[in-house]
Amino acid sequence: MNFKIAVLPGDGIGPEVTLESVKLLEAIGRKYGHTFNFEHGAVGGNAIDDFGSALPDSTLKTAKSSDAVLFGSVGGPKWDDPKAKTRPEDGLLAIRKGLDLFANIRPVKVIPQLIDSSTLKPAVLEGVDFVVIRELTGGLYYGRPQKRWTTSRGRRAVDTMAYTEKLVGRVLRVGFEMARGRKKKLTSVDKANVLETSRLWREMAVEIGKEYPDVELEHVLVDTAAMQLVRTPSRFDVMVAENTFGDILTDEAAVLCGSMGMLPSASLAGIPEPGTKALGLFEPIHGTAPDIAGKGIANPIASILSTAMLLRYSLGLEEPALLIEDAVGRALSDGYRSADIASPGDTVIGTQQMGDIIVSLLG
Ligand code: IPM
Ligand code: MN
Repeated sequence: MNFKIAVLPGDGIGPEVTLESVKLLEAIGRKYGHTFNFEHGAVGGNAIDDFGSALPDSTLKTAKSSDAVLFGSVGGPKWDDPKAKTRPEDGLLAIRKGLDLFANIRPVKVIPQLIDSSTLKPAVLEGVDFVVIRELTGGLYYGRPQKRWTTSRGRRAVDTMAYTEKLVGRVLRVGFEMARGRKKKLTSVDKANVLETSRLWREMAVEIGKEYPDVELEHVLVDTAAMQLVRTPSRFDVMVAENTFGDILTDEAAVLCGSMGMLPSASLAGIPEPGTKALGLFEPIHGTAPDIAGKGIANPIASILSTAMLLRYSLGLEEPALLIEDAVGRALSDGYRSADIASPGDTVIGTQQMGDIIVSLLG
């Protein structure tokens, strides 16, 4: 089969790790007889520099006309001026919104080989395997007004957390569906003791839950959820959360897996039927890591695992997705470590070497 993949490497370590994922896809193509046509697009800070926009129209067009989007990361100190009119992150927000990718799937599965890389005790990490579904097109990220101004009594700023029935309902349904295919437990995260948007969220979770009597539904306040994530993370199966809550909780959850460099993500407009194609965007959850950018030492595994999700969710190719996930596990079993997941005494390898080793283990 022929597939068109939009490649948006972005800033910082984005290009380095994305290159390894492209390499993986090429190897998968050779193995299974698929052709991947890669079309590159500018996004983020470099796009601001070159085109004056964090998401040039041409990039959005490329993304819309492709089968899947492989995304790196955006941002960096160069564009961090709080007074700047456009920011690299605007590009990511615009593409999520532009493609209506409302369901951000972030699997958190502790790989036993890395149990010692985490700062948490091994006993806490045993059996951790859950998925966070983060709402991605609403909430604090998109609510308006959002502004900063000066009054006679000083500076002021406002952000708005807003949700509609439609936005809440569709992401909750993804949560219930996903739980149905797993251990049938859905944790709906909210702050219903304080926020009106959360009270709508909880009310709708209860309503929609009636359509899924086989799924056990629980409501957990976001602060409690943050605590439980490090105390008893194995209690979770599927979590569904508002945009900002999901953002915060998944950085925390990355610690369970040893490093931010391990967590992949898929942003979708709903869960496609197995075996069908559906446009999605796939990106590591880590940022641009400006401190190590260009050094060739970044961990490409989060991007590579995102590529496995790309094959699974956007292209309907489960077998090569499993093959990549298995090759990552074997590279780790063989003792290969990038700097972020290395323990004292480990042999540390760079970004490209890790990519090459995973390619070689595809068999
Ligand atoms: C993420 C990132 C982004 C977000 C940033 C880069 C805008 O932190 O994907 O989690 O906050 O959504
Ligand atoms: Mn984040």
